[in-house]
Parts: sequence; structure tokens; C-alpha cells
Amino acid sequence: MDLNDKTVLVTGAMGGHGSALVTALRSAGAVKIYATDARASEGQDGPVVTFALDITDPQSVAAAAARCAGVDVLVNNAGISLWRGFLIEPDVDAARREMEVNYFGTMAMCRAFAPLMVKQSRGTIVNILSVVARVNYAGCGSYSASKAALWSMTQAIRAELADTPVHVTCVFPGMMDTPMLTPDWGTPGEFDSQKNPPELVAAEVVRAIVEDLDEIYAGVDAVEDGAALDADYRATEKRFGSYLPAQRRFRL
Ligand SMILES: NC(=O)c1ccc[n+]([C@@H]2O[C@H](COP(=O)([O-])OP(=O)(O)OC[C@H]3O[C@@H](n4cnc5c(N)ncnc54)[C@H](OP(=O)(O)O)[C@@H]3O)[C@@H](O)[C@H]2O)c1
Repeated sequence: MDLNDKTVLVTGAMGGHGSALVTALRSAGAVKIYATDARASEGQDGPVVTFALDITDPQSVAAAAARCAGVDVLVNNAGISLWRGFLIEPDVDAARREMEVNYFGTMAMCRAFAPLMVKQSRGTIVNILSVVARVNYAGCGSYSASKAALWSMTQAIRAELADTPVHVTCVFPGMMDTPMLTPDWGTPGEFDSQKNPPELVAAEVVRAIVEDLDEIYAGVDAVEDGAALDADYRATEKRFGSYLPAQRRFRL
């Protein structure tokens, strides 16, 4: 979809990737950008309109859909990673919170906006996943699982919309230099050398929208990991497993 004169809504727009995305969409010619975030205040800066949208709050999602009818592109970018595993945790609270935001929150946005797009006979839904949707990184095991669930949902939504003009795009970013990439248990060394600037990933998201791509691997590591997964899934799973620091491994 040519972004010139189009209206876009971005969730999680105050975050590291979200703010880069708003800038990239603006440069690509979007005439109005709803830059939303759970804790954003009302405001406007040229074509960028900011307001609060908590994707886990049904009333907030309904209000956004009522306010933003006519949106051409929805970028489901909001997400959280609490950097938790499964067996080593005292409870499943973090895993539930990640599912609430990454899976159910994004589902709520798709359910609210897809019918509006079908009605207006045009639209693109972009879901920001992660390479760890395809292969779990146990350092953020429950986050990876929530993104895997989102990937599966994205495929289903694409199939449900197949007879409509609404296009669905999956983005698999690699590691980005944003506040999210700071586990409270310490940053593994290999993260540092591989972090992509969020601007690079945002530019790839814009390319995917403009070129109507079904999916894109955004970032140097993402492209390499995507190819490695296609070539040898089990070897890649083993490699990702080997990245888990010793203090995050289960012991009785
Ligand atoms: N950073 C990476 O390495 C990486 C890699 C692959 C994929 N991704 C994905 O890229 C997307 C952007 O992440 P990021 O790196 O930019 O992280 P970030 O800087 O932490 O930004 C995430 C944004 O989502 C917002 N958010 C959280 N819960 C929300 C809710 N319930 N409703 C609305 N907004 C909510 C956050 O707002 P508050 O700050 O107010 O909570 C924040 O603005 C996420 O989907 C993430 O999973 C990131």
C-alpha cells in the first residue's frame, strides 16, 4: 500500500521501536498517524496525533476504533517482555501478563479494526512478532511463547480475511536497541554485538507495507536466523538453547 495520504495507527508508539516507526511513517508520506500508547497524553504535532490506548482494556480499544474510523494501516507494535522462563519461576504471573498484552491485546485490536477495514474495502494490518516466535529463546521463554501464539493468530486472521481486500503482514524483528532489551537478570554479551538500530527495523516495516509483503525479517540477525531456521530448525533451536546463561537454567 502506498503510504502517501494514508492514515496509520501505531500501538506502543512511545517505545523504542514505536517512535522510530512514527518517524519512518511520517517520512513515507502518511497524512495522519495516530501514535498511541498505554500512558500517552492527548496531543498533536503536525500529522501525528497522540492519545492513550491500552490494548488490554476493552473500553480503551473500543474508544480508539470509534475515534479512528478510516484507518488504512494498523501497526500492532505494543508488546512487553518480562524476561521470564517456565520451570525456574515461582509462579506464572509474568507469562499471563505477556499473553494479555502480546496475544490477547493484539487480538482485541485486530478484532476492532479488521471489520472497519473490510467495510471501507482497504487496509493493512501489521503484527510485530519476533524471531523468537519461531524459535524460543529461554531467557525470555514466556515472551517467546506469547509471540508464537501471536504468529499463529496472525496466520488465522490472514486466512479469515483472504476474501477481502485487507492485507496482513507479519514482521519478525531481530534484536533491537530499545528499552525492552534489558533483562533484569543481566544482559548476555552476545546481545550487544547484534542489536539493530530501531530505525533500521522501522524502515523494513514501512517497506513491507509499501510492497504488500506477507512477512519480513527485519534486522541483520533476523534475516540470518530466518534462513537458519528454514535450513535446519533443530540445529537453530539447539543454538538458541545454548545462549541461556547458567543462572537461568533449572536446578533442584
Ligand atoms: N527490542 C527488541 O529486541 C525486539 C525484538 C523483536 C520484537 N520486538 C517487538 O517490537 C515491539 C516494540 O518493542 P520495543 O523494543 O520498542 O519495546 P519498548 O521500548 O519496551 O516499547 C514497547 C511499547 O509498548 C507499550 N505497551 C506496553 N503495554 C501496552 C499496552 N497494554 N497497551 C498499549 N501499549 C503498551 C509500552 O508502553 P509503556 O512503556 O507505557 O509500558 C511501550 O511504549 C514489541 O512488540 C516487541 O515485542 C522487540
